[in-house]
Amino acid sequence: MRTRFGILVCFIALIGCSGNRQPGDTEQSEDHHSFSRLGAAKVEHLDLNLSVNFKEKILEGTARYRIDPASADRIIFDTRDLEIIRVSADENLNEMQVPFNLGDPDPILGQPLEVFLPGNTDVVTIYYRTTPQADALQWLTPQQTFEKTHPFLFTQGQAILTRTWIPCQDSPGIRFTYTATISVPNDMLAVMSARNPTRISQTGAYRFVMEQPIPAYLMALAVGNLSFASLGERTGVYAEPGQLEAARHEFQDLEKMMEDAEDLYGPYLWERYDLIVLPPSFPFGGMENPRLTFVTPTIIAGDRSLTSLIAHELAHSWSGNLVTNATWDDFWLNEGFTVYFERRIMEEVYGRAYSEMLALLGAQDLQKTIDDLGPDNPDTQLKLNLSGRDPDDGMTDIAYEKGYLLLRTIEAQVGRERFDRFLNKYFESHHFQSVTSYYFVKYLKRNLSQLKRAGPDLESWIYNPGLPADADLPESDRFDLVATDLKEFVRIGRLDVSQTRRWSTHEWLHFIRNLPTDMHWSFYEKLDQVYRLSASGNSEILAAWLEHSIRSGYFEDHNLPVLKNFLVQIGRRKFLVPIYRALKEENHLDLAKEIFEEAKENYHAVSSGSLEQLLYEEPT
Ligand code: BES
Ligand code: ZN
Repeated sequence: MRTRFGILVCFIALIGCSGNRQPGDTEQSEDHHSFSRLGAAKVEHLDLNLSVNFKEKILEGTARYRIDPASADRIIFDTRDLEIIRVSADENLNEMQVPFNLGDPDPILGQPLEVFLPGNTDVVTIYYRTTPQADALQWLTPQQTFEKTHPFLFTQGQAILTRTWIPCQDSPGIRFTYTATISVPNDMLAVMSARNPTRISQTGAYRFVMEQPIPAYLMALAVGNLSFASLGERTGVYAEPGQLEAARHEFQDLEKMMEDAEDLYGPYLWERYDLIVLPPSFPFGGMENPRLTFVTPTIIAGDRSLTSLIAHELAHSWSGNLVTNATWDDFWLNEGFTVYFERRIMEEVYGRAYSEMLALLGAQDLQKTIDDLGPDNPDTQLKLNLSGRDPDDGMTDIAYEKGYLLLRTIEAQVGRERFDRFLNKYFESHHFQSVTSYYFVKYLKRNLSQLKRAGPDLESWIYNPGLPADADLPESDRFDLVATDLKEFVRIGRLDVSQTRRWSTHEWLHFIRNLPTDMHWSFYEKLDQVYRLSASGNSEILAAWLEHSIRSGYFEDHNLPVLKNFLVQIGRRKFLVPIYRALKEENHLDLAKEIFEEAKENYHAVSSGSLEQLLYEEPT
């Protein structure tokens, strides 16, 4: 029945679209990264009960699911590196042990857990514990935290890592609500992507409720010596006590950002929006766990100059968390929309000239990614084909920046007002649903009829590699001024301080990215002395400068200790990969490996995995 229906959908899809649509892209395309789709039964609600054991670095307890339909004779969960102790089902209010089968392990997907049901049961309980291999979890020693007094634990679920800490239906197209009881050592706070406590409990037990249905990749937990500060009526920040004040200052604009976001795309549907500042090993800038965005401490620059990242994670409360990519092949629907929305928020808060600088830096990143991958590489399509691969491989700037440019180009062609009306309706009518690229194009054509007359070639944007010629590229007068100053610097080795005094972080980034790498070292030395770039407290500027220093050779006699320190302290993949890659490409592979071996115990599996690949597997 399923197959015949599938064929019918494909047939209808084939008649209804132009030639270059990717085969298999339909309104309900397969998620090749989850075994759970193969079973008929779906989870509806999770009640999680876990105790956190810092000594053994494991979580242990139960995942109790309410499932649908009750008549199903089996249900399939995703697991990876989990120890399944036993499984039971509730029958007439009695819990009965039921048979299960753990399939062969796949290195990327893990093992399907197939549970055989007696029929007429809608509650299944899995007794399990995690193993130290669990890639979602990072267990930190006190030494790896800010206060250095307590250990710390955090999870990272996206894209398919939740199955390493919870047996679950780990597909972005399957949503469930959850409740949880988490037990932690007495003097620690636990927080989740749910309604959260603000104070440490005497017993070490915490109860959580998440009333809105979410996909498994948004399950999240952090445990540490955490304190809370309120930022506004619906907003606040968690951080280790010594970092709380700096965090409160940095994120002062949060409430305003939320109001601007709501004015743009409709009410915020998750009640509260809080942030948690994690230790520096957190592998991302930010992760949009619902109600509680996880952020790297490296965005605390002191001057609020890196808060576009917060606008980004906040925007995911609509694009991503409310309207979710159906599979990881449709990742651009999460990230491209979010970058577009992020820049609209930044424009509201800081003005068009500011948001255009961000857009132009993004376009530079995109160009570099297309150059690196090659313009014919299928990984430069918006709709990806990640079958048989780790979804992480597809999580490049393409989804973010090519996705952004498509939406920007549509906006330019139909006008902002019309596009905003369309987006409002899109978000409103797809709350808590998942969407494929195919469906989106169909919906777009149906609801934005002006596109027919003068619109971008959507199929080409989505299903073809490279960057279409009709892209509406950003322009920045402020960057044009930087370019003039840069030219002068190359000529005389000096910058006009009356100009640079006015530069924001973004102007500095534009300058450093475009600074030639073959100048006499004295030029870089002068720059470093006057502007103290190697001592910058701004992580974006420092990372760009360190990469440049490697490319120019300046680093060897000038900032090698700073470089080592940066790589050992910070685990954010976006900074690490370009720096290690520069070392490798500039013939310092041995040094790169030496630093990596020392630093890797500070990295989360997401970062160390990418770096192992770069340093030990990819050809030089
Ligand atoms: N959801 C992503 C982080 C992510 C992507 C986790 C893919 C796992 C797999 C998050 O919203 C994000 O995009 N973070 C960016 C920051 C942003 C400003 C571009 C980051 O971490 O750099
Ligand atoms: Zn994002």
